[in-house]
Amino acid sequence: MEFIEVKEGKTILNVPKEFLVKRVFYNPVMELVRDMNVVVTKCWIDYKKLKNKSYLDLLSGTGANGVRIANETNVEKVYLNEISSDAIKLTKKNIESNGLQNKTTLLHRNAKRLYALLDQRFGFVDVDPFGSPIYYIPYIYNFLDGGSLLSTTATDTRTLFGLKEDTALRRYAMKTVPIDFYREYGVRVLATSIILTLSRYSILARPIFGYSKRHFVKVYFEIDVGRSKLNKFLKENISFLNYCTRCLWREYSNEPIGKCGFCGKEAKVSYPIYSGKLFDEKFAEFVIGKKEEFSYLKNSKEIFGIFENVENENISNHYFDVHEFARKYRIDQIPSLENISNKLKENGFVASRTVFSKTAIRTNASFEDFVEALGNPKIKA
Ligand SMILES: C[S@@+](CC[C@H](N)C(=O)[O-])C[C@H]1O[C@@H](n2cnc3c(N)ncnc32)[C@H](O)[C@@H]1O
Ligand SMILES: [Zn+2]
Repeated sequence: MEFIEVKEGKTILNVPKEFLVKRVFYNPVMELVRDMNVVVTKCWIDYKKLKNKSYLDLLSGTGANGVRIANETNVEKVYLNEISSDAIKLTKKNIESNGLQNKTTLLHRNAKRLYALLDQRFGFVDVDPFGSPIYYIPYIYNFLDGGSLLSTTATDTRTLFGLKEDTALRRYAMKTVPIDFYREYGVRVLATSIILTLSRYSILARPIFGYSKRHFVKVYFEIDVGRSKLNKFLKENISFLNYCTRCLWREYSNEPIGKCGFCGKEAKVSYPIYSGKLFDEKFAEFVIGKKEEFSYLKNSKEIFGIFENVENENISNHYFDVHEFARKYRIDQIPSLENISNKLKENGFVASRTVFSKTAIRTNASFEDFVEALGNPKIKA
């Protein structure tokens, strides 16, 4: 097997040349996610003044994430678990070449059996499978504690984006819809399924940061305990999303509406769906204060771009994709995003771009007010 050394952050990783092509076990495109893990982990320890600084990388592949966490953050111990012997061999090599033997423990187990072996809680648990992390959640709840951070990555994006309704019902126990704001929706679908799975064990998983790009959806959760807190959280944040595929009207509600509040046609209903905040503003502020520390990361600009936009992202729980509106409405020339935002601002609303889409606007304006800012175009069909 021919190896090649790649540098990610401050860490040297050995990966077989063929892995770079096939992207098995090690995927270079996911450096963005690993950079994000480094930033979030390092900051979370300081932000929370975390006592438990142990990290479980449940599905560690060749160790790219776990080894970087051990090397670039102040966690005390990283447990790297992986089922494949080939990947384990490489992880060992990566641990040794970075001199991290004392800071890491290598486990060669089925992640779904690990709970029988490890009777301990972790400050961090990372679940990064091929496909959906939901299958692992029932096997890791015992590893979580109040204050822990759960980091999940999913790559079943077509399902999360509402394009595979049957699969979503089977896999996530959720009714989904194809939608214009699909990247944020994907984050919400994944967040909902994890919140509701953990709630069965009386664990509150509160999203603190969500992102989606290319073929991945990523959500970090702050773990909390206490049943009455959890009940209140679910009551306030688990909703119905009513969506009209004809005119793109949308509304979150406590009861299903089913009829479009704009064109009057039948609306689809997606449920249950998390309608609360995706970002913790105070944590984002804390992270922004540490920006200089992370300037060495390849994806620093993109990651801090997200944190710096958190205040805007939290003004609503959806965004309007202007290109989708142009498809559904008789709009001869799509006004620039700037023009639409200015119009909304003139009318007294907050309007901004969103990190989820380059063709969308996030605003606290109602659907009717947004359509007005588009110049009140007619619906096509
Ligand atoms: C997407 S990769 C992990 C990549 C890694 N987090 C990184 O950043 O490079 C998912 C890994 O999970 C492993 N895996 C799949 N099922 C598993 C199981 N039941 N227990 C442990 N590992 C498993 C696969 O062998 C694969 O290496
Ligand atoms: Zn409608």
